[in-house]
Amino acid sequence: MAIETQLKTKDFTKLNLDFQENLYIFSDKIKEQIKPYTDYNLIDFKDIFANTNPVNVEIGIGNGEFLVHYASKFPEENFLGFEVVKRVIRKAISRAQKRELNNIKLIHYDGSFFVRLFPPESVKTFFINFPDPWPKKKHHKRRLMKTSFLRLLSEKMQTDGTLYIATDHENYAKEIMTNLITVDALRSCFESVYVNELVDYYPTKYYRKFALNKGVYFFKLKKV
Ligand SMILES: C[S@@+](CC[C@H](N)C(=O)[O-])C[C@H]1O[C@@H](n2cnc3c(N)ncnc32)[C@H](O)[C@@H]1O
Repeated sequence: MAIETQLKTKDFTKLNLDFQENLYIFSDKIKEQIKPYTDYNLIDFKDIFANTNPVNVEIGIGNGEFLVHYASKFPEENFLGFEVVKRVIRKAISRAQKRELNNIKLIHYDGSFFVRLFPPESVKTFFINFPDPWPKKKHHKRRLMKTSFLRLLSEKMQTDGTLYIATDHENYAKEIMTNLITVDALRSCFESVYVNELVDYYPTKYYRKFALNKGVYFFKLKKV
């Protein structure tokens, strides 16, 4: 094959998500499957959870408290969590192991990579609790809640699905508010774009430690 054709032709590969103890997968098992010029088949949640129950996704699970809480509360639904720091996801893994839940899966990898691979309109809820604010201006471009990513989340959400975002960072909250303006499919569930308290929501470790006394910007958006 001519080099030019090779460069233009993408392979499609099915990622093998072989969850250890039916619960977690570490990034080395994913990285070894990532190749240049390759795209990946969309993920079939039925392959992951062995059922067709609604799927809820948290990006940046930290110690996993939040996801484990909801997975225990809603055994008829599935919960998929992403966390990039191994030391941190290990805490989430042991927390989930203790509860012996079979409706939760934890992936040690960048959640934004995986969201691209979700089928359209497949996710009931996205939770993004205290995404890293990257406070220095020169680092703002690293923030997760860009317009393109918010739009991608909305495309992956079922109609009437919900996106929750909590931050304690005023500048980030303002950026999220601005970025949401052009994402037509997402409508605030509040009269304002955000509220300054968590409404019917589990207070995460970050919230209790850093945001409780400082204040919070809480977004709850429906896919219309
Ligand atoms: C400020 S902490 C909040 C942790 C937790 N959500 C809480 O509220 O206690 C943000 C977490 O998101 C993780 N994180 C950041 N970007 C991520 C990404 N793209 N995919 C998965 N995890 C991510 C970080 O490693 C960190 O543990």
